[in-house]
Amino acid sequence: MNLKMKLIITFTTVIAVPLFLITIIFMGFMSMQPAGVVTPQTKEFLIEMLLSVLLIMAMTSSFLVVWIYRSILNPIETLKKATRNIRDGNLDFEVAIEDTDEIGELCADFEEMRIRLKESTEQKVSFDSQNKELISNISHDLKTPITAIKGYVEGLLDGVADTPQKQEKYLRTIYNKANDMDRLINELSFYSKIDTNRIPYNFNKINVLEYFDDCIEDIGLELDEQHVQLSYNNEVSRDIVVIADAEQLKRVINNIVGNSVKYMDKNDKFIQIRVLDVGDFVQVEIEDNGKGIAAKDLPYIYDRFYRTDTSRNSSKGGSGIGLSIVHKIMEDHGGKVWATSKEGSGTTMYFVLRKYQEVPVNE
Ligand SMILES: Nc1ncnc2c1ncn2[C@@H]1O[C@H](COP(=O)(O)OP(=O)(O)O)[C@@H](O)[C@H]1O
Ligand SMILES: [Mg+2]
Repeated sequence: MNLKMKLIITFTTVIAVPLFLITIIFMGFMSMQPAGVVTPQTKEFLIEMLLSVLLIMAMTSSFLVVWIYRSILNPIETLKKATRNIRDGNLDFEVAIEDTDEIGELCADFEEMRIRLKESTEQKVSFDSQNKELISNISHDLKTPITAIKGYVEGLLDGVADTPQKQEKYLRTIYNKANDMDRLINELSFYSKIDTNRIPYNFNKINVLEYFDDCIEDIGLELDEQHVQLSYNNEVSRDIVVIADAEQLKRVINNIVGNSVKYMDKNDKFIQIRVLDVGDFVQVEIEDNGKGIAAKDLPYIYDRFYRTDTSRNSSKGGSGIGLSIVHKIMEDHGGKVWATSKEGSGTTMYFVLRKYQEVPVNE
């Protein structure tokens, strides 16, 4: 039995039962009256009264039935359609909220649920597509060194490298390419730890001058091989110390310098690294004369998966996670990273670390 039928039965019963009782009482009352007391006019009047009451009650109840039916059934009908839409995977509709009563509240809650469901579905879709892109970029990045390694090994096997010098050059290239792959795999496994906050930090006091001197020596050797000129300028005094994880800080510098090399489009390649003392902080600036970043892209380069050049044919590969890792590490160090850039002429990346100050103990 549907709701409409139930409402009609309810209201008919509500009218019929009292009416039936009144009629019985009325009849009993009449039959108890001695003959002649009740005139035919009185009797007719009473019957008319009874019929009028019946009519009025019937009309009122019909009106109530229609009113309640509308205010319940219409929203239920809307919710039914909405539920079907969701079942079929369609979330692009709106549940109209017509009333502020309990059913209206139910519709409002339903609408909110739909909006949240839609948001989380969209998020999932975009995450899936980002993941797919990540996998395709990583495959590209891994394939490039593997292809080179295969080529050089074949060269060695076929005897193309026939002098010890050539052989050494081949082996060195193979070694460098294997290093590239190692770095990428490292970055990936590190990235997977970011999400679950499992980065194993090892914070220590680090002497800024010594640390950067050593670090730049390593980087200088690598840049030399890639024919990039490096200038380095450290202006902090000998005793400045920061609290940092040496390994992760190296990761930050490598990532930024790696980008400078990767996005370099000039023949004369320059990278300048400056370490400055700015009050309570040590500021590191890494400047390149590469292709630069457009102003519209600049705010997003730290977003994970964000790449300014997303064309699939891009020869650069890349996953777009490097700078998101940099950002996360700096955040966990209580520092900050930002960039300025001019398209076509170069980029400067900055990051700051708070100086460590011994709190004097009053003896
Ligand atoms: N020094 C730079 N010069 C030009 N573009 C850069 C530089 N550093 C970063 N970018 C831009 O920022 C994007 C994000 O960098 P990153 O997170 O390291 O990802 P990936 O290097 O894997 O593309 C890069 O795709 C690139 O477009
Ligand atoms: Mg990068």
